[in-house]
Amino acid sequence: MTLLGVILLGVCFTSKPGNLKAADDSFFWISATGDLRGEIKPCGCSTDGDMGGLLRRATYLKQMRSSHESVVYLDLGNNFPVPSEQGRLKVDLIQKAMLELRPDAILVGPNELLYERPLLNQNLPYFLSNLRGDWLVKKSLFVAAGEKRVGLWGYLSPAQIYQNKHEELDVFPVSSQFIEDLQKQLEETHPDFAVLMFRGDEKELQKFEKSQLFDLIITGSNNDDELNQILEMKTSEGSFISIPTKGQGAFHGRVDLNNKKKVNLELDWFLAKYEDDQKMMAYFDVYDQSVQALFFSNLDRMEKHELEAPYAGEETCKTCHIVQHQIWSTSRHSNAFATLENVNKHFDLECLQCHVVGLQKEGFLSPELTPKLLNVQCENCHGPGKAHSSNPKIRTPNAAVKEVCSSCHQGSHSPKFDYSLYYPKIAH
Ligand code: HEC
Ligand code: HEC
Ligand code: HEC
Ligand code: HEC
Repeated sequence: MTLLGVILLGVCFTSKPGNLKAADDSFFWISATGDLRGEIKPCGCSTDGDMGGLLRRATYLKQMRSSHESVVYLDLGNNFPVPSEQGRLKVDLIQKAMLELRPDAILVGPNELLYERPLLNQNLPYFLSNLRGDWLVKKSLFVAAGEKRVGLWGYLSPAQIYQNKHEELDVFPVSSQFIEDLQKQLEETHPDFAVLMFRGDEKELQKFEKSQLFDLIITGSNNDDELNQILEMKTSEGSFISIPTKGQGAFHGRVDLNNKKKVNLELDWFLAKYEDDQKMMAYFDVYDQSVQALFFSNLDRMEKHELEAPYAGEETCKTCHIVQHQIWSTSRHSNAFATLENVNKHFDLECLQCHVVGLQKEGFLSPELTPKLLNVQCENCHGPGKAHSSNPKIRTPNAAVKEVCSSCHQGSHSPKFDYSLYYPKIAH
């Protein structure tokens, strides 16, 4: 897979007007992450998709900080998952983890704005520059890198805010007025190095690039496809690094203030070689307990519905389709629930959805209440088959069975999925 390994991207750095004389040995390190999008930990579904997560990020940063002097750590934001009850638990976990990771800045991203105001932890350095009026975050940040001062500005395109839960938040697009404003701020504060953390489209990026105000521009990822990472934003003038999506990796690089234009940022994927950080693991245990509690509280609610399940369960299919059942029972699908039990994730709805029958579709509730609906069964692919079982003249609902695979074999859960290679392994 082309994703793996370390790649080097030549980054186009814009030059700043005015000449700044720095001391001879003045350099610092920069590291950037972001776009977690709720992917707090790799699911473990496949070795090829086994990248990312906060536990490895913590180890990575510890190593980075112990072996490099003056590390400025930036996060491009967009870390929260889309809202749900479980998403809310993740937000807590993510922010606890971020407090531990101590970023110097976090750009407010679209996903952070899907939640109500109090969810942005005030002890974290969230910020955003293209804001009108007062809002709860700073508009620029200045951090020390050894003896030097690094100035940070952040831009979030209003076009990228799909949903804004904050009526009082007034974000404006980049304009010549805004560029002038930034120039003034830079002249007044004259940092040794100026960074723009950016999330927007190429046209907007070009405006910042043309302004030549910033020594370095790092962009958030605009894509949601972890298998096809786009790690550069290209404008007609140059290219800028875009951080890996779904928190799968980080960039790091050495900034030499005597030669600001020549910096290479290196990409590191958070592979299993970065061990899980033990301290942070404790937070994950707390999270798993809350997820389990949520599971049981949902169960209470669902039990009250007393739904008539449209599923029959594989034991019923077996009575007439002995051969197919025999083949199925030797496939990994028939073991998918035990797989979750082995990693103690059989109470996590986000995992169960692909490892049991009909979760949240009037099927699986719990191992105790619906013991016949564990694992990936006939009905995951052929559709609910109770009606067919009592009258075989009624066909099973899914005519296009082939197309159903990708509802589970998707993204990092099954990066190598290819129907023509996978189907023969389960052909019946
Ligand atoms: C979108 C569907 C989906 C979700 C959600 C999902 N899985 Fe999976 N999982 C799969 C598929 C598909 C495979 C088989 C991948 C393959 O072999 O190509 C798999 C395989 C696995 C395996 C077996 C790995 C091995 O090689 O033996 C484990 C363990 C696992 N998943 C754990 C989890 C956990 C834990 C979660 C929740 C954090 C989860 N899964 C969520 C679809 C999913
Ligand atoms: C009482 C016996 C019986 C049971 C129980 C039964 N089937 Fe069938 N099934 C049949 C017969 C008979 C046919 C052939 C029907 C035909 O060709 O007209 C069939 C055909 C099928 C077909 C191919 C045609 C279609 O309807 O798509 C599928 C797929 C299928 N069954 C799946 C299942 C699944 C899944 C279950 C369990 C939920 C199940 N069957 C339970 C008897 C049964
Ligand atoms: C409801 C979710 C789901 C659907 C739909 C699904 N799978 Fe799977 N598949 C899984 C899970 C989960 C595993 C891993 C089970 C385990 O190892 O515990 C898996 C494993 C497999 C494996 C074993 C992989 C290996 O390398 O041995 C094959 C092959 C496979 N699936 C093929 C298919 C095909 C083909 C389809 C569509 C016709 C399909 N699956 C549809 C969830 C699904
Ligand atoms: C991972 C998905 C998956 C699972 C699980 C699965 N099937 Fe199938 N099944 C398929 C696919 C795909 C086909 C082939 C359909 C085609 O070629 O059009 C098929 C074909 C069949 C056929 C033949 C249909 C025909 O028209 O000839 C029957 C009968 C059948 N399955 C029954 C079952 C039974 C019973 C089980 C459970 C013991 C089961 N299947 C489990 C995906 C699945």
